[in-house]
Formats: sequence, C-alpha cells, structure tokens
Amino acid sequence: MPLTNESVLAALRGVMDPELHKDLVSLNMVKHVEVSGDVVQLGIELTTPACPLKDQIQKDIEKAILPLGASDVRIEWSAQVRAAPNRAGQLPGVKNIIAVGAGKGGVGKSTIAVLAAMGLTREGARVGLMDADIYGPSIPKMLGIEFEKPRVRNEKILPIETHGLRVMSMGFMVEPERAVIWRGPMVHGVIRQFLEQVDWGELDYLIIDLPPGTGDVPLTLSQSIPMTGAVVVCTPQEVALLDAIKALRMYQQLNVEILGIVENMSYFRAPDTGKEYDLFGRGGARKAAERVGVSFLGEIPINVGIRTSGDAGTPADCFEKTDEATRDAILAFVRRLAGQVSIKNLGQSPPLELRIT
Ligand SMILES: Nc1ncnc2c1ncn2[C@@H]1O[C@H](COP(=O)(O)OP(=O)(O)O)[C@@H](O)[C@H]1O
Ligand SMILES: [Mg+2]
Repeated sequence: MPLTNESVLAALRGVMDPELHKDLVSLNMVKHVEVSGDVVQLGIELTTPACPLKDQIQKDIEKAILPLGASDVRIEWSAQVRAAPNRAGQLPGVKNIIAVGAGKGGVGKSTIAVLAAMGLTREGARVGLMDADIYGPSIPKMLGIEFEKPRVRNEKILPIETHGLRVMSMGFMVEPERAVIWRGPMVHGVIRQFLEQVDWGELDYLIIDLPPGTGDVPLTLSQSIPMTGAVVVCTPQEVALLDAIKALRMYQQLNVEILGIVENMSYFRAPDTGKEYDLFGRGGARKAAERVGVSFLGEIPINVGIRTSGDAGTPADCFEKTDEATRDAILAFVRRLAGQVSIKNLGQSPPLELRIT
C-alpha cells in the first residue's frame, strides 16, 4: 500500500487506545495527518494531559505506520479533557467534578486531594480544589494560604489562586481553631454556596476534599451536582478497609460512580538503604478493590517529605523534593485517576456493579 494520508488514516483506524478500547480515529483523537515524502506527521489529541499510556500509544502508532514505508513518524501531542456526560445542572465551565472521600479521618484524604490536584495541574490541566471538609478544613494550611480571604466580584466569590490551583475552603471564612458545629440544612447551604456562588471559571477537574465518613456533605453534593465520580482513600489496615468499603457502599447508594481506591501510607522506603517496609500490611486496598470490582489507583508511600510539605504549606515539594520512587508513585496515581475519568466520560466502562456482600 502506498504511503498516503488515506493509508495512514486507515492504519490509525487499527490503533486502539489501550484504556478506552476504541480506535484513535473513532475517538476523534487524530487531529491531522500529513505525509511528505516518507515522513509522516500526526496531530494526536489525548483525552487528558495526564495520560497514563502515551508511550504505549506512540509505540502502537509507529507499529501501524512504519510498515507502510514511513521512515519517521512525528507526533505532535495535545490534550483536551472530555467533559462528563449528563451534566444537567452542572457548573457551566467545569468539565469534571471528582470527590475524594474516605470512611475514616486521618487516612490522608486531604493529602491525596492535594496530590491529585497538584499532579493534574503539573501535567497541564486546569484544576480547582474545593475543601468541603467544613468541620475541619485543612486545605488552606496544606497550601500555605490559611490567612487569605477570598474577594467578591460581580456577586461571585473568587477562589484563591495559588500553586496553579483555584481553591475554596471554609477555612477562609472561620478561624481554623474554632470548631464548627453544623446541622444538616446549614451544611447543605454552605456546599451549595461553594458550588454556585464561587466563580470557578473554566476547569478540567474540580477536586473536592470531603469530610471523613458518610454524613451530610456527600449526600448534599450528590443531590446538588452530577459528579464524574469519587476516589476512596484508605490505609492498608483491615479496620481501615472495612471503613473504605462502607464509603464505597454509600457512593453506590448515592448513585455516584467510583473512580477507584488509592492506598495511602502503603509502605515506607528507607531513604538510606532504599529498602521497603510494609508497616501496615501493604496491598490490602488492592485486594479490596479487586474484591468489590473497582479500579485500583495506586499506592502512596509514607514519606517524610509529604508530611512536612503538608505542614509547611509547600505542596510542590512532594514533586520536587521527594525521592524519585515516591514521585513516580504519586504520578502513577494521578495518571491512573485521569485515565479513569476519561474512561467514565466515554462511557466505556460497564455500569458499576459493586460486588459488596
Ligand atoms: N503518604 C503520607 N506520608 C506521610 N505523611 C502523610 C501521608 N499522608 C498523609 N500524611 C500525614 O498524615 C496526617 C493526616 O493526613 P490528612 O491528609 O490531613 O488526613 P485526612 O484528611 O484523611 O484527615 C497529616 O499530617 C499528613 O501530612
Ligand atoms: Mg482532611
């Protein structure tokens, strides 16, 4: 077959996106094809800048096109995050809303929410972070912005812009030390205000840090706005896993899709020897995910740098000052999460049937 635009396009119809299980042409990912001599130039648009499988897609494209007689395949990558379908009542500029929840407090939910938000921004996405833990907001401190006060413009609250994120938290409104006691209707009011009266602008992902447990906040959220899905954070101990399964069951009852489970404080890597210690029994969350039929999003180690960056309000340190293995673990989680969002948005995954007994 001669090397022409048509033969290249035909070959690309045979290249599958490894996660979305459809070919690149049907997925509308091929933006341009140009054959000049024996050089092929392609524009490929990924469904997220945090694509977990870009390298594999590149290899598969080369495998399909080089046999046509091409000497070189040059790919110009771009990314366009797809919006969640069925967005009636959705915030107009926000493509995906992702809740980060857990059955228990202290498992690192806020830390994971920050890592997800920071990781997605660093990959090139536009990201917001909403701290919906109105009882114990910790996001402002973790980002080093606890003394900021949001401004109001055109009767909308402007989120605080920091570290490339747009952030809103109850912590900006009340002093962090003051315990806030909220009744159901008040919770409902605050959450709706955060969604409707905050000027989020254009976002690819809005990450929501939920309070622990299965209370009013997830209920209000699920009733107020269609979410792309929820991430459940847990630690490896048996007791934590039981709580995580409770959280999964709650999302199922609320009709919120589950993007997956991530295991935090999964293991400890000794900085001097590189040896890994499974303090709490690593791997429990992966098994739980398999058992209930949801995706496993990754293992985040216990790491001093992650803890100190949270205390100091310097989240970029998790990416810039930690060891390479920790950084890789965080990035793998971020990319798997972005991949799951793309999968849900293209309706490629079967409807969730939790096998919880
Ligand atoms: N992977 C980790 N490595 C080290 N410290 C962590 C890790 N995850 C969380 N922490 C620390 O544990 C504490 C609780 O985490 P946090 O994210 O506030 O939990 P939650 O939001 O679930 O209550 C914080 O001091 C945080 O810095
Ligand atoms: Mg928290």
